[in-house]
Amino acid sequence: QPKAFIFDLDGVITDTAEYHYQAWKRLADEIGIYIDRQFNEELKGIGRMESLEKILALKPELEKLSVDKKENLAAKKNKYYKELLKSLAPADILPGILPLIQEIRLRGMKIALGSASKNAQRVLEQLELTNYFDYIVDAAKVSKGKPHPETFLTAADALGVPYDFCIGIEDAPSGVTAVNEAGMFSVGVGSKEALSHSDYRVNQTDELNFDRIIEAYGLVSV
Ligand code: G6P
Ligand code: MG
Repeated sequence: QPKAFIFDLDGVITDTAEYHYQAWKRLADEIGIYIDRQFNEELKGIGRMESLEKILALKPELEKLSVDKKENLAAKKNKYYKELLKSLAPADILPGILPLIQEIRLRGMKIALGSASKNAQRVLEQLELTNYFDYIVDAAKVSKGKPHPETFLTAADALGVPYDFCIGIEDAPSGVTAVNEAGMFSVGVGSKEALSHSDYRVNQTDELNFDRIIEAYGLVSV
């Protein structure tokens, strides 16, 4: 039996992955760079500055901007993102997530957050979910972002649970890689194309079912 679940935030617990995309898209438009949803897959799970660098790389003359200018652009994106966050409320928790969290609690397992976002605490608060989490890892607690496993290793260490007794839930290709690299069981939420490397996968959050996840975990860990 697993002992802990570590949830990614954006795109798993709530649809802020879409807000991040819209905010980046707005910024990219302003600087004459075209991005689409397919390109956005590469940004999912990736930190703010690193995401900006990936976008700027699409227009080589912008890659050499000064650190100051880059920080201004990142701040602008965050401003757009926070505008979108304003109305975020418990009704925006994705289907199936609250029942899953409650079931995990009921079975006496631990829950942590493993997010690359500096806005993670605020998002959890607005969703009124903070109390369900035994530990929160956000951008402030790690130095190496996903796909590096540090986010998930840090969460498991704080919970005091061995890595192979943890289940990580992710919507980002980089996030699934991070969970796998941490030696944990990975649950992917998203398309087969993007998340073929997950140990177990569903298309959307309403298909997340506690018993099915535990069953899938049991099949690979024995
Ligand atoms: C998460 C999201 C990314 C986002 C990153 C940083 O990993 O999946 O899309 O870029 O967090 O978020 P922040 O709120 O700190 O800009
Ligand atoms: Mg995500």
